[in-house]
Amino acid sequence: MSTKRYDYRDKILPNQEFFRYLYHGAAPYEAELYKLMASYGLDFNASQFKLTTPKNMDFEQMSTPPWQLTLLDALIRFSGAKTVLEIGTFVGHSSMQFARMVGETGHVTTIEVGQEFADIARENFRNNGFEKRITLHQGDAGTILDSLPAASFDLVFVDGSKQDYLDYTLRSEKLLTERGVIVVDDVFFHGDVLNEEPTTDKGLGCKKLLEYFQADGRFNRLLLPVANGILVLYRNRNPD
Ligand SMILES: C[S@@+](CC[C@H](N)C(=O)[O-])C[C@H]1O[C@@H](n2cnc3c(N)ncnc32)[C@H](O)[C@@H]1O
Repeated sequence: MSTKRYDYRDKILPNQEFFRYLYHGAAPYEAELYKLMASYGLDFNASQFKLTTPKNMDFEQMSTPPWQLTLLDALIRFSGAKTVLEIGTFVGHSSMQFARMVGETGHVTTIEVGQEFADIARENFRNNGFEKRITLHQGDAGTILDSLPAASFDLVFVDGSKQDYLDYTLRSEKLLTERGVIVVDDVFFHGDVLNEEPTTDKGLGCKKLLEYFQADGRFNRLLLPVANGILVLYRNRNPD
């Protein structure tokens, strides 16, 4: 069997270098892209919010980029999802975008382990009028997930530590409504999942998740080469 090792950066997604350049270094293109998206009614840019971010941290690197939020918006509209559970709040940008997507009658629940991030996220929710539409649980998702009501979320967005992706996803299963969808972010982990033995713990976490659901017939899988790889799981109507 091949033991070829892939450099863990940017090997499997032909457009990833482009996206990274677009997002991190090429302001004119980025601004044009956002203008174009906004003209289609797809305005998921962070600039629409009054946002506090932690000092010395790269907001863009930590947060779900606008083009990926566009995809999540489409999934929410197609599925009619009204309740979203997010694992990994950071400063709450994606939580607020989800709250916009599900509308006034929907609700977002989000879990963040870091006290500083959770405090900033709460401040952001307050400053942008989302306190009533977003519930934040500060603590470890591994524990909090087990305290949430069963069958109550239409969409679960898994975006916490990649090492724990499989654990989060399995714990989330019972929280899903019948037609609910689980979306897992960054599952290619820059191509490290291609290595027979991933070179990072994060890559290993993603690979474990992908292999588990490859072998498990209960969920249909949709693996999308968007951004750093997105896995969409939805219940198989006719499991073996
Ligand atoms: C990639 S960031 C989330 C970004 C956010 N969803 C967005 O798009 O703006 C991942 C977050 O997960 C949090 N996290 C990591 N492990 C966690 C755990 N066990 N429970 C809850 N949150 C966790 C980190 O502190 C970090 O803020």
